[in-house]
Amino acid sequence: MNTTIVVYGSSTGTCEAIAEKIAQKLGCEVINVQDLTADVVNNHQNLILGTSTWGAGELQDDWYDGLKVLQGADLNAKTIALFGCGDCESYGDTFVGGLGELYNGIKDSGAKIVGAVDTDGYTFDDSEAVVDGKFVGLPLDDVNEDDKTDTRIDAWIADILPNL
Ligand SMILES: Cc1cc2nc3c(=O)[nH]c(=O)nc-3n(C[C@H](O)[C@H](O)[C@H](O)COP(=O)(O)O)c2cc1C
Repeated sequence: MNTTIVVYGSSTGTCEAIAEKIAQKLGCEVINVQDLTADVVNNHQNLILGTSTWGAGELQDDWYDGLKVLQGADLNAKTIALFGCGDCESYGDTFVGGLGELYNGIKDSGAKIVGAVDTDGYTFDDSEAVVDGKFVGLPLDDVNEDDKTDTRIDAWIADILPNL
């Protein structure tokens, strides 16, 4: 059951496109969080979870139900990696806050969370996704820095791959 799945929440398609790119690079399945069920969780060893950020640093809407599915499942033996889409120029005080909310929702689940990312190379004022000086997953800003997205994804995949 050492399989990997990418699960994304996306309101206008940005996080969806990035999720598909990550899944293609990993050669794994990708689904919208609207389709996340307990069976999907149980049937995969590695969960790659992505959310965009809405409101002021909040989760993409569909993730509120998705988090309930995750919280109702046994995540003890799972490996989880997180990514988030945001906008560091217009929302520099709450940059990828949804990524932080996703992390907060699963951090005590017993899952092994991999793929923390150095804040170097990002310009922002504040982020709930920074814990102990690092982002809890991969932040991507396809609004202002889409030229950096591929390089960031490749470096992150190289980092998480040995854990999957
Ligand atoms: C009303 C609104 C609020 C937003 N709030 C934030 C925010 O707090 N932090 C952030 O980093 N990005 C924020 N964003 C930027 C989105 O996360 C970004 O555009 C993202 O690429 C959207 O991805 P999606 O189309 O997959 O939902 C916001 C965008 C809008 C339109």
